[in-house]
Amino acid sequence: MSSLTPEDVDAVCGLVDDLCGIYWDEEKSYLIESRLASLVEENNCENYAALVRKVRADVVPGLKDSVVDAVTTNETLWFRDNSPFEAIRHKAIPEVIDERSQTIFPKKIRIWSAACSTGQEPYSIGIALADVIPDVDSWDIQILATDISPSAVEKASRGVYSKLEIGRGMDTSHLRDYFVEQEDSWKIHDRIRAMCKFDVRNLLKPFSGLDKFDIIFCRNVAIYFTGEDRRSLFERLADSLAAPYGWLFTGSSESLSDLGDRWSPQQHCRSNCYRPNLVEATMA
Ligand SMILES: C[S@@+](CC[C@H](N)C(=O)[O-])C[C@H]1O[C@@H](n2cnc3c(N)ncnc32)[C@H](O)[C@@H]1O
Repeated sequence: MSSLTPEDVDAVCGLVDDLCGIYWDEEKSYLIESRLASLVEENNCENYAALVRKVRADVVPGLKDSVVDAVTTNETLWFRDNSPFEAIRHKAIPEVIDERSQTIFPKKIRIWSAACSTGQEPYSIGIALADVIPDVDSWDIQILATDISPSAVEKASRGVYSKLEIGRGMDTSHLRDYFVEQEDSWKIHDRIRAMCKFDVRNLLKPFSGLDKFDIIFCRNVAIYFTGEDRRSLFERLADSLAAPYGWLFTGSSESLSDLGDRWSPQQHCRSNCYRPNLVEATMA
């Protein structure tokens, strides 16, 4: 295969933006080669631009999904950064439970892990819920876990992790209580799996058909988007929270301070979290 040309770079960056909203430019040439070279070869393409044409023509079943899987970065771990999980245990969940108790659905909780990668985030949320709600099995809880990467969602849905993956953040007492040991891996317990629903979803597409959520985790994904896509995403997430409540958790280095007064920053257990400000209805 010939080396990467400016035409290849333009074609790939345009495709990655169109498929996932992920912003790549010529500075990401090393990623283009490391992530896509094998697909170029396997699909008998003479160069990267030819691979892009094949993907856009949509003539090879599964090729689009393979590109999405290859260009996304699925790095994740259990209880990532710890503080958001402390904040839901000690602040957000108790408040949601209080607020729900005043409604006709006192035992309903809806949570969205919006970019769930291989499942460590939604299952960590489920475990945190089970930690603080003694009769959790009698609650109507749903953790919607979505990601654009079909292979990540498939792995998340299986809920089986190698010892190496478990070693990245899972402590022994939660491992004992919430996993079942298999030959050389660990499977998330059915109690936690039953709370979760998995789906492939692009966050830059409209959130059609989704419920309102009490808590949203949207962590370490918007960092890959352009400023405009990031602004639109957080605007739509504000509308997806169950007004006037709702909690949004972002990544530890992600601040929403540049997004005007749509979000109120909160500090609980040292985590970055936000509550939406109500938008005044504009008079016609
Ligand atoms: C670095 S991981 C973060 C996973 C998890 N939220 C965490 O903080 O550990 C980023 C995830 O965002 C997903 N992603 C990238 N672009 C996306 C998009 N447009 N819509 C939905 N998910 C996307 C990737 O597939 C990847 O699994």
